[in-house]
Amino acid sequence: MRGRYFMLISGILAVYFSVILIGIHLHKLPNFQLGPRSPRQSGMWHRVTIGTISDSKLRDSVRRGELLFDETPTAGAKYTHAKLACASCHVEGGIQPFALPVVGIPKLFPRYSQRAGHNITLKDRIEECFVRSENGTPLDYNSPEMKAIVDYIEWLSAPHLDSQPFVGRGLINLPDLKPDPLHGAEIYAAQCAGCHGFNGEGNPYLIPPLWGDGSFNDGAGMYSIRKMAAFVQHNMPQNRMGILTPQEAYDVSAFIHNQPRPKFNRAYRGF
Ligand code: HEC
Ligand code: HEC
Repeated sequence: MRGRYFMLISGILAVYFSVILIGIHLHKLPNFQLGPRSPRQSGMWHRVTIGTISDSKLRDSVRRGELLFDETPTAGAKYTHAKLACASCHVEGGIQPFALPVVGIPKLFPRYSQRAGHNITLKDRIEECFVRSENGTPLDYNSPEMKAIVDYIEWLSAPHLDSQPFVGRGLINLPDLKPDPLHGAEIYAAQCAGCHGFNGEGNPYLIPPLWGDGSFNDGAGMYSIRKMAAFVQHNMPQNRMGILTPQEAYDVSAFIHNQPRPKFNRAYRGF
C-alpha cells in the first residue's frame, strides 16, 4: 500500500514539475516573446501606470494618446494611410532604448529643423511623422487626438521620484558604410521575410510592412539607409536582436530602400 502511495505521489510531483519546467522553457523561446515585453536594457528607468494620474481628464487623454500611439492605423484611421503604428518604429510605446524612444523629448522642443529650415514645436514634429512615416494627412493642432498624443509623450517624460534618468535616446551610432543591396536580399530572405513577408507586406496589425502601399513614404526618416541600418542593427530581427553586423544591417536596409513605396505628398512639405 505504502509503496503505491509513494509511486502515486512521486508521479504527481513529477508531472507537476515537468509542467513548470516546460513553461519556463517555452517562455524563453523567441515565439513566445511577441507580446508586450518590458523595456530591454532600460536600467532602472520604468514607466508608471496611467491609473496613478489623479486628474481624470488628463488620465483619459493620456490613455487615448497611448492607444493612438500603439494602434495608429485603427485608432487614428482618419489621419493614417500606412499600416504602421507610431510604436512600430518608436518601439514598446516609445520607451524602448535606441529604438527612437519619445521619453524626455518635450524638453528638446522648440528646436531647429534642417528639413523645415526653421524652429519647430513638438506638435510640428508629430505632424511630420503623420504625413511622412504614417503616409497620412495632417492633424488639426487643436484636435483632441493631437492633445492626447502630446499628453501621452509628456506623461512618459515626467520625472518620477523613484526612477533613474532614461538612457538610450535616438538610435545607436553606426559608421558610414557602403551597402551591398544584393547581399541584403539574401539577408532579407533568411532573417526578415519570415515575419515581414517576402513582399515586405508584413502582417497587419501584428508585424509592420517594410515596403509597398502599407509602408511609410519616401519623405520619412526611415527612408534613410543610414537610419534604418541603425534601427535594424540594434532592434531586428525582433526575436534575435543584434545578430546582424553593421555591414549586414546596411546591406539589408539598402535592399529594402530599393523596393517600391508611396511617394511623399509635396502638398505637405511644410511638415
Ligand atoms: C516608419 C517609422 C516611424 C513611424 C511609423 C513614426 N515615426 Fe516618429 N520618427 C521616426 C524617425 C526615424 C524619427 C527620427 C528622425 C530623425 O532622425 O530626426 C522620428 C522622430 C519622431 C519624434 C522626435 C523624436 C526625437 O528623438 O527627436 C517624435 C516626437 C515622433 N517621431 C513621433 C511620432 C508619432 C507620434 C508617430 C505616430 C503618429 C510616429 N512618430 C510614427 C520614425 C517613425
Ligand atoms: C520575429 C519577427 C520579426 C523579424 C524576424 C524581423 N522583424 Fe522587423 N519588426 C517586427 C516587429 C513586431 C516590429 C515592430 C516593432 C517591435 O515591436 O519591435 C518590427 C519593426 C521593423 C521596422 C520598423 C517599422 C517598419 O515597418 O518600417 C523595420 C525597418 C524592420 N522591422 C526591419 C526588419 C529587418 C531588416 C529584419 C531582418 C533583419 C526584421 N525586421 C526582422 C518583427 C520582426
